[in-house]
Amino acid sequence: MPLQTAGFTCLCRACAAKGIAHGIGVDHLAHLFLPKITRGFINVPFLRRLVWNRVGPPGSADFVTARTIVIDQAFMEAVDDRLPQIALLGAGYDTRAFRFKTGATKIYELDLAKTQLRKRRLMEHAGIEVPENLKFTSIDFTRDPLKEKLEEIGFDCDRPALFIWEGVTPYLPPEAIESSLKSIASCAAPGSRLVFDYMHTDVLEGRARGFGAREMMKRLSHSDSPVTFHFSLEPEAAEPFIERHGFRVLKHFGEAELNEVLRLASVTMGDRVSVWMNILLAEVPETKTTD
Ligand SMILES: C[S@@+](CC[C@H](N)C(=O)[O-])C[C@H]1O[C@@H](n2cnc3c(N)ncnc32)[C@H](O)[C@@H]1O
Repeated sequence: MPLQTAGFTCLCRACAAKGIAHGIGVDHLAHLFLPKITRGFINVPFLRRLVWNRVGPPGSADFVTARTIVIDQAFMEAVDDRLPQIALLGAGYDTRAFRFKTGATKIYELDLAKTQLRKRRLMEHAGIEVPENLKFTSIDFTRDPLKEKLEEIGFDCDRPALFIWEGVTPYLPPEAIESSLKSIASCAAPGSRLVFDYMHTDVLEGRARGFGAREMMKRLSHSDSPVTFHFSLEPEAAEPFIERHGFRVLKHFGEAELNEVLRLASVTMGDRVSVWMNILLAEVPETKTTD
């Protein structure tokens, strides 16, 4: 299942990247993780559009595209601001360490061993070298201590970092979210940033109304649904939730903000996001206030 969810993200990114120059939000490496037949399929414009519209509930591929842009921007800002480290939590097939010039910033990728092994094998097969400033380790957020895992590969909890938790929180039980956030907070020196997305509780509870929500809820209610979601937040509760962990919210991206991100980026695929996920960008203020 984790491989499938990471594959869905890649498929959306590979479709969005077709025909566009490299840059923010454009993942020209995403296709590497797709089966050969899928790569051929999405090379054909009308088939690509078909995949885009059918790959998930309406607006879900568009959401992935907007999220990629927002988090690419957070990543590049961290590099430009010379944050010494970036931790990709549940990195999946994230290619930012390969797509962007990261200067002196060190990158740490953590994920389930199975996902990470497949990614590394496919990158190697494609002849793509691992940059010297990139380190990997496996983790299961439901079991393993995040702080120790980070420190084992050289992450320095006394220096500021950007933590990226993209497309992961819905799959984790609330206890794993709590323990991971405590670990992140304990490793987040003042000046650190955290960006993550979360699912809206009304979708999980089957009472949501926005664009794409009904179709999403229908999929979730099928007993043979390949995906199970566990964690969600009400958008009104999300900011106090993260503030309790010592972060100050910098930006909260909901439907309007994400649609604006797509409009400004003028990507050829993606114009309206589904209304069931938001993104939060937060920082650790100079004076820390963890609970
Ligand atoms: C939808 S993918 C997102 C991947 C990546 N962050 C991206 O945006 O491309 C979800 C990721 O969460 C990881 N994941 C799911 N459950 C996990 C767990 N218990 N511990 C660590 N990683 C987990 C999966 O392996 C997968 O890479």
